[in-house]
Amino acid sequence: TSTSASGSAQEPAAPALQGAGSVKQQISNLVALSLRATVPEVDVEPIVEVCTGKFGDYQCNNAMGLWSKVKGSGTSFKNPNAIGQAIAKNLPACDVIESASVAGPGFVNIVLSKSWVAKRIQDMLVNGITTWASILPVKRVVLDFSSPNIAKEMHVGHLRSTIIGDTLARMFEFSNVEVLRRNHVGDWGTQFGMLIEFLFEKFPNWEELGSQAIGDLQVFYKASKQRFDEDAEFKDRAQQAVVRLQGGEEKYRAAWKKICEISRNEFDQVYKLLDVQLEEKGESFYNPYIPQVLEKLSSQGLIEESEGARVIFIQGHQIPLIVVKRDGGFNYASTDLAALWYRLNVEKAEWIIYVTDVGQQQHFDMFFKAARMAGWLPDPKEKKFPKTSHVGFGLVLGADGKRFRTRSTEVVRLGDLLDEAKSRSKSELLQRLTENGKIVDWTDEELEQTSKAVGYGAVKYADLKNNRLTNYTFSFDQMLSDKGNTAVYLQYAHARICSIIRKSNMDVEELKVSGNISLAHPDERVLGLYLIRYAEIVEEACTNLLPSVLCEYLYNLSEMFTRFYTNCQVVGSPEEPSRLLLCEATAVVMRQCFQLLGITPVYKL
Ligand code: ARG
Repeated sequence: TSTSASGSAQEPAAPALQGAGSVKQQISNLVALSLRATVPEVDVEPIVEVCTGKFGDYQCNNAMGLWSKVKGSGTSFKNPNAIGQAIAKNLPACDVIESASVAGPGFVNIVLSKSWVAKRIQDMLVNGITTWASILPVKRVVLDFSSPNIAKEMHVGHLRSTIIGDTLARMFEFSNVEVLRRNHVGDWGTQFGMLIEFLFEKFPNWEELGSQAIGDLQVFYKASKQRFDEDAEFKDRAQQAVVRLQGGEEKYRAAWKKICEISRNEFDQVYKLLDVQLEEKGESFYNPYIPQVLEKLSSQGLIEESEGARVIFIQGHQIPLIVVKRDGGFNYASTDLAALWYRLNVEKAEWIIYVTDVGQQQHFDMFFKAARMAGWLPDPKEKKFPKTSHVGFGLVLGADGKRFRTRSTEVVRLGDLLDEAKSRSKSELLQRLTENGKIVDWTDEELEQTSKAVGYGAVKYADLKNNRLTNYTFSFDQMLSDKGNTAVYLQYAHARICSIIRKSNMDVEELKVSGNISLAHPDERVLGLYLIRYAEIVEEACTNLLPSVLCEYLYNLSEMFTRFYTNCQVVGSPEEPSRLLLCEATAVVMRQCFQLLGITPVYKL
């Protein structure tokens, strides 16, 4: 039951083929054309997936669903298999598909043409991997991530948010989506009263203080909290300070600014280490918008009085969403409502994504529902934009299975964590190079850069590779191991490919233009096919907001490369030019994955 899809030469190539987009998108376009020819009376979206069996590369699963739609309507089809046969036959003639066959109840198995796969890889090598960007249905995304709180600890949870958020941002940006990277820092709230009063008390000359002068802000926070809890008179002053700050009194605003500035300096150091870009629009930014936003919600009859507070009751939730506290102050929820209003109406974002620990899921669920009640967002069942998503993640655990802590301090300093990863990877590298007598080939600068890339990359990858919703155990030993699914293993795999290319005597740049990729050996074909799946993987990772999908791809790719390299001789073989191009393409795709994961690739290890 095999039909050649590229048989009839007189038909022009399908217009769908000129389109960009992932391979899956392109196959879907072809299937859409076939569906229109097969069942013109039914309007149906193509269902295309990577083939689960071994009789094809992709499969179309429309036949079974179509059968239940058309049977009994006087259709000439006898069964779903017959619809499958027709879908296969009606695939437009083109250079993409080699053949299509039908299995079981009507699965259409599609085999891609080897020469098309080879050409797609070679085009990428010549024109760059950006030509493989997939097309997403959004233009502008607000990504709210990292978002630590001023003067409070920036804990490992914020590290997770920063790493996951940055990767999502990079993946969207690769897909040509504009990303507003928002740092929604907690820079507003009652804690500032006590911080300001404590600042006045401890540093009478606070106005002249440099950003380092207070020392450690977390220690400062703790001390002021202790003072607040122990001294009623101080507590009183602190509470008045909040009122004076919110009333806009000059001196209090200046002190608040000072504290924010010091915090910001600390955060920025971590962002610099991690190479993460963020634009701060803290909670205070949205404060002026809160009254008008609540006014709108009130006039829609959504806000009610309850036990002295103003609240929104939400279906399916026992407790309401408080938007004005009993003391008349605004809170986290009122700020988030105002921020969402701003992001939708001023920033005109189509997708607003929040990256926080799963503990905040209820908050997001409630305030998204409130926004839907107000008509700001369409029903999620309609799958329309604008939409909001909460990207939740689990806890970081220590080896003891409890919340992660380091020995010395209760809270984990992110800078220290990254430093330790770097120095550990440096000593391993040194040891290995010394054992192999290769230490002489390395400059100090190279050693330093490499251990940084490997160490920091290991921390990021260990976080990203997990399904983000699960808790994960932080272990230097595990993440810095060169075996298994770790960044270190992947860095080695990439460096090895680079060294293969260096050791051959061919000019790869020249080969890209003049050479030809052939995918004659089965392991070459498998590798080639997996390479061109890159775009749909990024698409899937963006659509489902799952960086782990990209990690899994990267790891599988390196395994497929190993199989290819074990079974296909590269250097010194007659196929050397073609195989070198496959090596180069693998290295390029791996580097692009590293780049999206925020990891600096190393070329020599
Ligand atoms: N500052 C919050 C925290 O540390 C995270 C803010 C997340 N963003 C938001 N729009 N609520 O938990």
